[in-house]
Amino acid sequence: MSKRITVVGTGYVGLVAAIGFADFGNQVIGVDIDKEKVDKLNAGISPIYEHGINDYLNRNLKSKRLRFSSDIASSIIESEVIFIGVGTPPKDNGDVDLSQVENVINEISKNLNDYKVIVTKSTVPVGTNKWIKEYIKEKTNSDNFDVVSNPEFLREGKAITDFFHPDRVIIGYESEKSKEILKDVYRSLYLVETPFVWCNYETAELIKYANNAFLATKITFINQIANLSETIGADVNEVAKALGMDGRINSKFLHAGPGYGGSCFPKDTKALVQIGAKYDVNMSLVKEVINSNELQKIRMVKKLKNILGDLNDRCIAILGLAFKSETDDMRESPAISIINELIKNNCKIKVHDPKALNNAKKLFGDKIIYCEYSLEAVKDADALMLVTEWNEYRNLNLNNIAKLIKQKIIIDTRNMLPATKVKELGFIYEGVGRK
Ligand code: UGA
Repeated sequence: MSKRITVVGTGYVGLVAAIGFADFGNQVIGVDIDKEKVDKLNAGISPIYEHGINDYLNRNLKSKRLRFSSDIASSIIESEVIFIGVGTPPKDNGDVDLSQVENVINEISKNLNDYKVIVTKSTVPVGTNKWIKEYIKEKTNSDNFDVVSNPEFLREGKAITDFFHPDRVIIGYESEKSKEILKDVYRSLYLVETPFVWCNYETAELIKYANNAFLATKITFINQIANLSETIGADVNEVAKALGMDGRINSKFLHAGPGYGGSCFPKDTKALVQIGAKYDVNMSLVKEVINSNELQKIRMVKKLKNILGDLNDRCIAILGLAFKSETDDMRESPAISIINELIKNNCKIKVHDPKALNNAKKLFGDKIIYCEYSLEAVKDADALMLVTEWNEYRNLNLNNIAKLIKQKIIIDTRNMLPATKVKELGFIYEGVGRK
């Protein structure tokens, strides 16, 4: 049976969930305090760049299964299931800032007119769902609700596909009633035999952090192997390929690069260390992953220094600003650390990105030069650094670059270009882990 759902928060997680649940046949209201965003969404315009999202958004708006509102109270009153998909950003000390979640549960407490299932989709520290349950109970003096933990695993850039084809769905729950309701919400996935993991709150909460920390560790591991490969004359791509052939390891997330970024891995690894500290369990491995990832970003600038010597007054072209391809998101992007390090070294920086230029402008203002075309960035530069693996950079016209650039130097932090061909054109070329 289809459900009446409110999803609070229309960021990556909330918006995709709202669209997805509507597409499953549920009646969904996506809620956000940002009225302008709500108006745009109701007009069928997605505030985020995500492949296929506008089609899904418009299809479900048209069918009247989906609408957006900034009126959280009436949305809660109308719904049986409330998904919390608001931001849980890190505080300066790595702890998670739960103030947005707290605002939502206060609203729910004020508007608990009937039985409701409150589902946490935002990534929240271990213990949060239990706390939410106690908090609402205390505020409302009522037991007429259930709390469920349902962490999200979608990737930016592949959010729609990931939502409709998850490897598994994790549900931390306490009551059978809430379990049956969640089965209804996810009926479309349940019917196609998507694996569901039914567990307690703490297990569900920890799975999310363990998953992201493991992937961050895998990337950091291959980055360290890449750094060693460079030094001893091995090729990290071949090492990674061979490792990936071992079914116990598998080939995914073994691409060496400038370090991981994004709104999740950096935040969740730090949060896991804090959770460990809270319960007096040493998360030393994850701590080292965080340190090593910071060093990896700066290592990319060191590569440049090794070739150019003094960086003072050099003009560097940066191609790629987003933390990965297929997104305009620059949160914790390696490009930020790289640009800051270059600014420290008094470089002139020209940047290009197919989607992230506007976000870069908010971060760097007039400190760097923004270029609409990649070749514009490359013109008269002392070196070119590729930072995001956009497909269009795989097919760069190297002959044109050779003509436009001042010094034929390329640092390819994503191992995108064919090294031999680049070198044949007279470039000094350096990738990651393949000297
Ligand atoms: C990540 C997880 O992959 C999702 O499962 C999870 O739901 C999400 O975090 C979250 O917690 O919300 P996302 O941050 O969108 O998704 O991006 P990823 O595709 O995982 O990439 C993260 C970073 O790792 C990027 O900077 C990427 O360039 C880097 N990376 C990835 C590598 O350097 N090498 C690889 O082999 C893979």
